[in-house]
Amino acid sequence: MTAKFHPMQSLQHQHQHLILIGMMGSGKTSVGRLLAVSHRLPFIDTDHEIEQRAGSSIPDLFAAQGEAAFREIEHKILTTILQGEERAVISTGGGVVVNGANRDLLWKSGFVVYLKADPETLLGRVSHDTNRPLLRQGDPLQTLTKLLEQRAPFYEHAHLTLQVNRLNCRQIAGRIWAHYSKRH
Ligand code: S3P
Repeated sequence: MTAKFHPMQSLQHQHQHLILIGMMGSGKTSVGRLLAVSHRLPFIDTDHEIEQRAGSSIPDLFAAQGEAAFREIEHKILTTILQGEERAVISTGGGVVVNGANRDLLWKSGFVVYLKADPETLLGRVSHDTNRPLLRQGDPLQTLTKLLEQRAPFYEHAHLTLQVNRLNCRQIAGRIWAHYSKRH
């Protein structure tokens, strides 16, 4: 496990949410839920909020309206969530960082943690899951590798990067909290 912390990135945010970013299958939702339960904080999953708001599943939303429409809804919902006054653990969809406005919002609203895993590990965790429309076509390992390559420069700007290939959720949550609680 390696942890990389950027001390120069000051936390000049208003709400100090604990925000998890990273690829599909990196464990954001499971780890986020565990952190929230353990520390009695509200838990918000952006994908879940999108599904609630749209009244359909993410694959159905992609199929009916396409990725661009999904990204618009994702941006609106993220904006609303991050304005919430109550400090929360927030798990985000893997592609949220591609939009620069989303990145600005995320980085100023809380402590951003990147759950970093290699494509093989990610594939192992999503291979039985039909809920990821981006992995439904072509070779999923190639897709994950390509998306990771494109997104890594954004993910790596997180306040904290945790290499999670060999860690379970409890270990990941413990390490995140050790860093977060020092600052909040
Ligand atoms: C996506 C990741 C998904 C979901 C959508 C698009 C992506 O969320 O937002 O399928 O672009 O990587 P998870 O990262 O929670 O799987």
